[in-house]
Amino acid sequence: MKEQLEKIYSDAIKDIENASTVKDLEEVKGKYLSRKGEFNEIKKGLKDLSPEDKRIVGSLANEITQKLESSISEKFHTLYEAELNKKLERERIDVTLPGQFIPKGHVHPLTSTTNEIVSIFQSLGFSVAPFSDSPEVETEYFNFDMLNVPKDHPARDMQDTFYTNAGENVVLRSQTSGAQIHVMENQKPPIRIIAPGRVYRNENINSRKNNFFHQIEGLYVDKDITFGDLKGVLNEFIRIYFGASRPTRFRNSFFPFTEPSAEVDVQCIMCEGKGCRTCSGTGWLEVLGCGMVDPNVLKGVGIDPDVYSGFAFGMGVERLAMLKYAVDDIRLFFNNDVRFLEQFK
Ligand code: DAH
Repeated sequence: MKEQLEKIYSDAIKDIENASTVKDLEEVKGKYLSRKGEFNEIKKGLKDLSPEDKRIVGSLANEITQKLESSISEKFHTLYEAELNKKLERERIDVTLPGQFIPKGHVHPLTSTTNEIVSIFQSLGFSVAPFSDSPEVETEYFNFDMLNVPKDHPARDMQDTFYTNAGENVVLRSQTSGAQIHVMENQKPPIRIIAPGRVYRNENINSRKNNFFHQIEGLYVDKDITFGDLKGVLNEFIRIYFGASRPTRFRNSFFPFTEPSAEVDVQCIMCEGKGCRTCSGTGWLEVLGCGMVDPNVLKGVGIDPDVYSGFAFGMGVERLAMLKYAVDDIRLFFNNDVRFLEQFK
């Protein structure tokens, strides 16, 4: 047994010497020193020896085990250090190299334009209507009926308005004006709100028209509101948005829900009023529709038109952004081409 032990010891020492990686060494350790290793097999035989032999062989076995353990741990440190150094060499980091920057995003130009318009009206005392008063999916009741739009008005035609299969009268709103009705049904005057949001129209898409776009609706209802108030607020808005030097004009118009109605033009930003392709030679560009809330609309929501009056307005966000930044194709806002979007950082 003694010879056997010594033979195993000398084999083990050779194996340790030959191990060239930490992994090899772990295998050697397993082969000799684990529970199923060669030493344990021998130790199992100890019980058959005389007490005297047991003591001698036992202590020899322990001595050899200890020697092996320390040889293995010595070799382990050498190999481990060598491997670590190799790895560090391979993965060397140059701390003086410049870092890689993750490009920072920014808001979409339609969002920043909306935010800008909203904050101008907030500075004039308007607040944003509750989201629930301005849904994108509407019934004809809010989108047309209560806004005094006749049953046979061409805007109601399927060619112009998207009807849904959610119910006979359920449409994707074609204008944000329905928000006026929601707000007046839910609030008592004085009312001074704006309602930004997306609208849908069944259009043939081209550089000036998309089948969805964004509007900002405004409504002011109180006692003694006049057309003078309307002009004052909208002129002030345009002065802030386009700059004080841009002339504006109010032009007669018609909307079923306002009486009288007007459209507001600003002097063409391309030709400064001389007349060009953008303004079809007129020197003016239309920026919004407005008017005094029709007494029929007020009556419909239970507001007495003999006591209260108000004005309303609606503007297209894309149009206002196109005019300010000289964008000539509405589709650019929706293609998500970063070369376009990056310019609005
Ligand atoms: N809803 C109109 C449109 O989509 C815009 C508009 C005009 C809104 C006059 C108004 C208004 O509130 O008073 O063309």
